Amino acid sequence: MTDFTTMTDLKGRVINVSNRLPVLIRKHAGGARVERSSGGLVTALEAGWRHQRGVWIGWAGTSPGQHVEPLLLKASQTRPYTLRSVSLTEDEIAKFYSGFANEIIWPLFHDMPSRCNFDPEYWEIYQRVNRKFGKVTAEAATEDDFIWVHDYHLMLTASAMRQAGVSAPMGFFLHIPFPGPDVFEKLPWKKPILQSLLEFDVIGFQSDHDRTNFVACLQRLLPEAAVEPGTPHPQIRLEGRRTVIGTFPIGIDFEEFTRQAAGTDIESQSAEIRRRLSGDTLVLGVDRLDYTKGIPERLKSFRLLLRRFPKQRGHITLVQVVVPSREEIPNYKHLRREVELLVSQINGEFTEPGWVPVHYIHRNLGRDELLAYYRAADIGLVTPLKDGMNLVAKEFCAAQIDERGVLIVSEFAGAGPELRSGAIVVNPNDFSEVAQALHHAATMTAEEKRNRMRLLREIVREHNVQRWIRSFLQAMPAGEPVGSKGGGANDSGSPSAFKHRRDETMPGVALVATALPPHFRPRYEIGKDAKLRVIARAAGED
Ligand code: ADP
Ligand code: F6P
Repeated sequence: MTDFTTMTDLKGRVINVSNRLPVLIRKHAGGARVERSSGGLVTALEAGWRHQRGVWIGWAGTSPGQHVEPLLLKASQTRPYTLRSVSLTEDEIAKFYSGFANEIIWPLFHDMPSRCNFDPEYWEIYQRVNRKFGKVTAEAATEDDFIWVHDYHLMLTASAMRQAGVSAPMGFFLHIPFPGPDVFEKLPWKKPILQSLLEFDVIGFQSDHDRTNFVACLQRLLPEAAVEPGTPHPQIRLEGRRTVIGTFPIGIDFEEFTRQAAGTDIESQSAEIRRRLSGDTLVLGVDRLDYTKGIPERLKSFRLLLRRFPKQRGHITLVQVVVPSREEIPNYKHLRREVELLVSQINGEFTEPGWVPVHYIHRNLGRDELLAYYRAADIGLVTPLKDGMNLVAKEFCAAQIDERGVLIVSEFAGAGPELRSGAIVVNPNDFSEVAQALHHAATMTAEEKRNRMRLLREIVREHNVQRWIRSFLQAMPAGEPVGSKGGGANDSGSPSAFKHRRDETMPGVALVATALPPHFRPRYEIGKDAKLRVIARAAGED
């Protein structure tokens, strides 16, 4: 595979900066060991960076006192990039990570302001930790590098790095949604966050909806920031700086998921899962145990299905896999109790000899086991209340090499609008609609299932993680690094780290759904009669 730095004519390296490193150092009785971190950010970046040199800066998920460096050095030896850790004190973990990031920004950006704990001390520590990340990155970067900062934990790092004299171009990608102005304005520190974000040269969002929300927040809260149309992406001008804002829906390494899912080991594991689970239809949910994922709502919808369609009893089984997440935060502790109570209530109400309706797995699955479940499933049930993208939906499609599974996806996940041509799209708050969708999927003809899944796999293949990375890097405009002062709108020439400009339009979610660019034409659609229809052909095809 080609190095992205070659594809984009970047002179130096890509420096990834995220709160979490792809590995996690976990204490155990005999010392500490290295584990894989969980979450979509790590899944996507690890896959995309498998062949890239550079540096990945982040927190190793542990408190000080652990021997992090030798373990990271060892983990770096199996990768083409170096892992560099930012160490956090216990107080910083509590007030920056659990506090500001996950008790304020996470619920607020997922449109759940009543879950926020606006503790002013959290803000102090958030600023301090962002300066810390900025300092470590400033020490690692040269002006030929491209610094790519990820996610809501690190929204103030651009100003920290600019103050430290960093002149390298900098981009920021928000993996989670960006809320509309009525929600965002509740944040007491809204202005400094917007101002600091505008010190990046490029800001990327998962969907056009998120990008539009960001612009609406600027217009309401920072009217001095001018929005200028640009091709392919609009730009924001503030105090002589320009920032490109684009939509870059994240993807997965489709080919790798497909290849691994096709392995004979996975095939036999998946057959074994089906053999052991009674019932004809296997429904699968896979999530971090997070209140944004809509797990209680999903269980209630499944219960409604069993109540409304008694013929499904004994025939349909839900396997809900959750990976423990952010367990020190009260909202997450309550969620676990709520989910486990619902599972036991449903099983208590419906279990019969030889059939248990809900199988609940509370642990991180290895890749092979996860793929075996994806392949075994007849229905992928992905119903977050709100989600930036949701990679589980895409992984399910990539693993469906037999094209017999049906995807049910929430309209409030980035993946919903993107996959709507082949999936059944639902409102996760409408239990009745979700129950009906489950019944529809469970009784669908093999032909309709195959047609839908073909369409989905084509979209997921096309919008893969490699394309996401390439299009983000190529959004870096010509001219000086636009985030630096003095970059004028008509400047030309090359930004310091890029040899010359390349443009690639990355269609946003809205484009996929409406005005399709020539390089991404779906060749088929599902008609009202559930038949697959050819609606356009790629150039050169009969
Ligand atoms: P988020 O980033 O909010 O966690 P995504 O759906 O985008 O949501 O990504 C979740 C990632 O974590 C996926 O790559 C998925 O395969 C993985 N994952 C989720 N639950 C589990 C689990 N129980 N075991 C292993 N991997 C999991
Ligand atoms: O994809 C969203 C995200 O919040 C990532 O930023 C994060 O790494 C992941 O989910 C898992 O969450 P955490 O790092 O809090 O375990």
